[in-house]
Amino acid sequence: MDSIVVRGNGPLKGQIPIAGAKNACLTLMPATILSEEPLTLTNAPRLSDIKTMTTLLQSLGAEVTSLQDGKVQAMSSHNLDNHVADYDIVRKMRASNLVLGPMLARLGHAVVSLPGGCAIGARPMDLHIYGLEKLGAEIELKDGYLHAKAPGGLKGAEMELAFASVGATENILMAATLAKGTTVIRNAAREPEIVDLADCLRAMGAQIEGDGTSEIVVQGVDRLHGATHQVVTDRIELGTFMLAPAFCGGEVELLGGRMDLVQSFAEKLDLAGIDVTETKAGLKVARRSDRVKAVDVTTEPFPGFPTDLQAQFMALMCIAEGTSVLEEKIFENRFMHAPELIRMGASIEVHGGTATVHGVEQLKGARVMATDLRASVSLILAGMAAEGETVVSRVYHLDRGYERIEDKLGAVGAHIERVKDQ
Ligand code: EPU
Repeated sequence: MDSIVVRGNGPLKGQIPIAGAKNACLTLMPATILSEEPLTLTNAPRLSDIKTMTTLLQSLGAEVTSLQDGKVQAMSSHNLDNHVADYDIVRKMRASNLVLGPMLARLGHAVVSLPGGCAIGARPMDLHIYGLEKLGAEIELKDGYLHAKAPGGLKGAEMELAFASVGATENILMAATLAKGTTVIRNAAREPEIVDLADCLRAMGAQIEGDGTSEIVVQGVDRLHGATHQVVTDRIELGTFMLAPAFCGGEVELLGGRMDLVQSFAEKLDLAGIDVTETKAGLKVARRSDRVKAVDVTTEPFPGFPTDLQAQFMALMCIAEGTSVLEEKIFENRFMHAPELIRMGASIEVHGGTATVHGVEQLKGARVMATDLRASVSLILAGMAAEGETVVSRVYHLDRGYERIEDKLGAVGAHIERVKDQ
């Protein structure tokens, strides 16, 4: 397994292209199941999670061809011949559960392994099941698998989610496109990935209104047709790289970056002393003075501060002037990066879902590792501002969500390389 070695850095300068969104692509790919005609995604990110989704769709009988070095995913589901999403694939990646809604809608039945817990929390599927049952599905748990069927077909219904879950909204939205009649999803998630999915489904002939608000209305249609869709910019990759000059100084332009995707995050950066300005090609980010200021943050569903940027922001607060309080409201166990940052000299106290970070002047390089993607990248950022060398192991977490991270950060002057473990 590879490691990433980072050495403390001076100011950064240059441009970083931002890829298509992992979390949008992972819900757009299962949308292929909804139609017999081809669905082609452009601006796809080149990540191991996308390969896992490819393997899953192929196991169901879909054809998935990766073109242009993985930037284009051409899919066709005219011949689905398996309706079982196997535990061995689903356990690798929770987003595998996004085939459930589309399979139920297209085939009338589906068997999907429950993903189980993951490093950041238990992550149950009760809201997915609630919504699909409202649409008339009968769902039973047997041997760790959800057995779902809709013998008379799905029927539109009104429902209110107890929490604005991203995955549940996506599964229900996809299923509702082929249900008979009107579906209303209240307290729906408003994330840009939901809007991107709705855009793609509309291009396939679906009738959807209200995506991007908390009430989505879907008018079911008999069939969906083929389409070509461009995946939206990855707002989490964008936010992560927006932090790079906050750690090291300098000025970096994020190509393809859009302010509407990171508004609440950019507001916190401004309070910390980091300028974010819109350019023709994206967003430009620069640190105003040598040291950033402590800022409190609470994670919330979109448009609030994203949980997927909490670890990276905590790493920055470790070297800020003053004390900051970070509250994690989305996942119950998303502070695994704290003990690793402490090994680098950070001063952090965690109590339940609250972390108090007392900024120190300088972090020190160390051997660290993390058990999830965003935690891993927070350690790379911390290493870029630390004295000496930081070695981040278990790089496969990074490869799930960051395309060629060492090339992208290296191109703006970061001292970062990938090495083979002994
Ligand atoms: N939840 C339930 N029941 C459900 C569904 C969710 O209790 O049926 C809870 C979860 O346990 C969690 C909260 O609701 O505590 C939020 O979960 P949500 O369903 O919104 O998240 P998700 O769809 O599982 C997606 C992203 C995550 C991102 C979250 C929140 C994908 C593939 N994953 O997960 O991305 O953190 O939304 O924005 O879209 C990442 O990229 O690093 C990542 C973890």
